[in-house]
Amino acid sequence: MEIHPHIDLHEEKGLVIGGVPASRLAKKFGTPLYVYSEDAIVERMREYVSALSDVYPDSAVVYAGKAYLTMRMARLAAQEGLFLDTASGGELYIALQAGFPPQKILLHGNNKSAEELLMAVAAGIGRIVVDNLDEMDRLQRIARKQRRVQNVLIRLTPGIDPHTHKYLSTGEISSKFGVAMHGDRHFAAVLEAERSPNLNLLGFHCHIGSQVFEVSPFIAAARTMLDFVAALKERTGIVTRELDLGGGLGVRYTADDGNSAGDPTPASYVADLAGEVKRRAAELSVPLPRLFVEPGRSIVAAAGVTLYTVDSVKELPNGEVVVAVDGGMADNPRPMLYGARYRAVPVLPGGRAELRPARVVGKHCEEGDTLIEKAELPSLRAGDLLAILVSGAYQHSMRSSYNALLNPAVVHVADKQAFVVVERQKYRDLIAKERPAPHFMAQERDRAANAY
Ligand code: LLP
Repeated sequence: MEIHPHIDLHEEKGLVIGGVPASRLAKKFGTPLYVYSEDAIVERMREYVSALSDVYPDSAVVYAGKAYLTMRMARLAAQEGLFLDTASGGELYIALQAGFPPQKILLHGNNKSAEELLMAVAAGIGRIVVDNLDEMDRLQRIARKQRRVQNVLIRLTPGIDPHTHKYLSTGEISSKFGVAMHGDRHFAAVLEAERSPNLNLLGFHCHIGSQVFEVSPFIAAARTMLDFVAALKERTGIVTRELDLGGGLGVRYTADDGNSAGDPTPASYVADLAGEVKRRAAELSVPLPRLFVEPGRSIVAAAGVTLYTVDSVKELPNGEVVVAVDGGMADNPRPMLYGARYRAVPVLPGGRAELRPARVVGKHCEEGDTLIEKAELPSLRAGDLLAILVSGAYQHSMRSSYNALLNPAVVHVADKQAFVVVERQKYRDLIAKERPAPHFMAQERDRAANAY
């Protein structure tokens, strides 16, 4: 049974990812393990790129690296002709080290430091998305000092509720991101950028939220942005040429997710969005802007699977079955942060075993360290392998080292071959950045020990 493109549940081999049995991957690389099918990633990238360029040739798909970024992933995006959204100096560093073309990189973030801005300007990156006036001031000084003219977009907050989890909603006026489209603030930001000879304002950016299943909030944001482009032209004569409408398309983690009227696909979502931009630009008589979309989750989520080993199974006095795996909130904080839900399947087929509700928990010292509150699983035993599906987005990138658990390895599968992209941490990595206590502390300790 195909559960996702390139990920199958085979009657004998069990879970197969990109043609390779997951049990073999677990044996070879250990668990917990993040596994990606590169064919699934590349297919999604191509779907986005061809759907957008078909309906709107002057456009680009920008992969939002925050969803999952490794040098290998940056190279896949470059190879498929995508641009790359980075959200910090660290992400930018990974992209540059991977050899990603700097002109195709965008730098985002609501509070970029001088160091991050300098790194971006010096590397000659294509666009910095300015969030606020303090940052604009910082950037323009840096660009002047570097004797550069930096291309910028201004991030605007259009005041639109995308109907998603509160933590994933970024388009409302109360958001910490961007310049609110309220009063004259956004006009003032444009004039400020125009005043600086070292900044070249190409256009505007907005990102209203993430894990969004309705197209209408995206359409509303596109209209609001174009209305502003037209108002700006009328009021000041300034004509901008680029519009970046952010990412946010939702992904089905479980059968309960999504839109009862049918989920938008990447192709239908970009077609609707591009259609609206063309219509509105014509109505307002503004030139068609170059259009960017910035998907992250919808490119990588379904291409990824996390493999775990079940280490213990308990039946509680109330009858509840608790299955404990060898990872948890450090490799996937999303259930705890957003109440995110996932689907788990056993890696090896258990015949036609009856499914029962079970709580899948991690191994951290936290009662809330639950990966799945109500999974439907056959009875499992210690040593069995368990896979959590659709787990390729915002997991590796949000991993932590809580309880000093070792960060899992990342493995990609391409052409039926599996290879390590990120090695599993080792215990020595946990102390690699620690320094021995200075001498005076050792003396203190000895004195304290002698006092007793
Ligand atoms: N562009 C910008 C400026 C963004 O801030 C984001 C996501 C994206 C694009 C990509 O959005 P996507 O297509 O992936 O929805 N950690 C959360 C998601 C936070 C999203 C932050 N920004 C989670 O695990 O659900």
